[in-house]
Amino acid sequence: MSQVEKAKIPDVPQIHKLINDYAARGEMLARPLSELYEDIRDYFVIKEGETVVACGVLHVSWSDLAEVRSIAVAEESKHKGLGSELVAACLKEAKELGIETVFCFTYQPDFFKQHKFVDIDKMELPRKVWTDCFRCPKFPNCDETALIYHAEETT
Ligand SMILES: CC(C)(COP(=O)(O)OP(=O)(O)OC[C@H]1O[C@@H](n2cnc3c(N)ncnc32)[C@H](O)[C@@H]1OP(=O)(O)O)[C@@H](O)C(=O)NCCC(=O)NCCS
Repeated sequence: MSQVEKAKIPDVPQIHKLINDYAARGEMLARPLSELYEDIRDYFVIKEGETVVACGVLHVSWSDLAEVRSIAVAEESKHKGLGSELVAACLKEAKELGIETVFCFTYQPDFFKQHKFVDIDKMELPRKVWTDCFRCPKFPNCDETALIYHAEETT
């Protein structure tokens, strides 16, 4: 049974620490607290009691496109399938919203390829997705890999 639930406001400080501890090690992009509160409805979490052990995001970009981002699993909870559960929850929500195409930017392309994401040239993504990139500290020198998932080809 899925352990994934929608995040709530009291989860935000723990989500912030989870993401930003990995960001400090250069493994993913940092997210400020202000953005976490604004986007709280995008966030899924997996908890053990009151402790957030994993999080992930589905962010809608446009009428036919969404992004999976900020999938993070606490070190001691890795390799138990939690990251996979979060990706599955994001793809399920995209489908329920009527969105068939989901992309991600990541330093872990092989993990996402296990979930039927395939490589895409960043430049093939619609210009809309770059609005978030403008806020990225690495812009315009993006060193993440872009991947895309098409539900209709995979179900
Ligand atoms: C990448 C990450 C989310 C994977 O989470 P996880 O819960 O350990 O993943 P799962 O247990 O669901 O993995 C299932 C399988 O995917 C594969 N996999 C997991 N992490 C992988 C990685 N980094 N690269 C390639 N394959 C990976 C493995 O085959 C794994 O099975 P195994 O544990 O038996 O080896 C986690 O390592 C993490 O939080 N990393 C730091 C943050 C990060 O890089 N996030 C990436 C997205 S922005």
